[in-house]
Amino acid sequence: MTRGQAVAALRAAGCVFAEDEADVLIEAARDDRTLGAMVGRRAAGEPLEQVVGYADFCGVRVRLRPGVFVPRVRSELLVRLGTAELGPYALVVDLCCGSGALGLAVRHRVPGITLYAADLDPVAVACARDNLADPGRVHQGDLFEALPAELYGRIDLLLANVPYVATRHIPFLPSEARDHEPRTALDGGDDGLTVFRAVAAGAARWLAPGGLLVSEITEAQTAAATTAADGNGLTATVVTDDDLDARAIVARRQR
Ligand SMILES: C[S@@+](CC[C@H](N)C(=O)[O-])C[C@H]1O[C@@H](n2cnc3c(N)ncnc32)[C@H](O)[C@@H]1O
Repeated sequence: MTRGQAVAALRAAGCVFAEDEADVLIEAARDDRTLGAMVGRRAAGEPLEQVVGYADFCGVRVRLRPGVFVPRVRSELLVRLGTAELGPYALVVDLCCGSGALGLAVRHRVPGITLYAADLDPVAVACARDNLADPGRVHQGDLFEALPAELYGRIDLLLANVPYVATRHIPFLPSEARDHEPRTALDGGDDGLTVFRAVAAGAARWLAPGGLLVSEITEAQTAAATTAADGNGLTATVVTDDDLDARAIVARRQR
């Protein structure tokens, strides 16, 4: 398949950046047959990052596989906020880690941290184990239940990019997300905060004194998320970044 044919197939499928995507696919494909298959998958609507098997996020290349949440550019805000005051020997947990992108990016910025990660989904856990190169520290299970007990009360930074889309909004997501990312990675229940509330409820016990929880939220969730954090022994502030179109809650355990 030539570059022109790849561009034409992608354009016909509605890819806005058909030329750029064709170049990414050509670079990733080992041979012509693989390129044809990759173009076919992308034209059928699979996210480009799942097709090529990686995403570039916050200065790191993150390995991906089909069925794993694609890290979003906006999540750079969580990495920035989380690393702002992080010491080199900090204990960091990437809860709801998906591919492990956030933890990987934090470790890239602050080498020397001890990083654990956990997710409910075994496919995500396998992917995070590929990325974090420390399989013994990537755990499978429901939120804090997945973590080793020795982390209790010691976590300096809890990254928790939980699913936060309100159930009624799921049908309006782009089909790339609806059809190719697991529902458990997206659906945050009635108001989108079901998983966040569960994280907030446990965070004060798992965080070290002064430790931080950072999570992405929407504008509509600001008041309820702040109430959930403040009501669980944390002190929350909300930070926005218009360039990234991102909003995060930063909740600190009192010292
Ligand atoms: C929005 S994705 C974020 C993935 C990754 N942190 C990122 O930013 O790319 C949410 C992740 O939470 C996981 N998840 C959902 N419910 C969970 C639970 N109860 N316990 C642990 N992980 C959960 C999903 O499997 C999914 O990987």
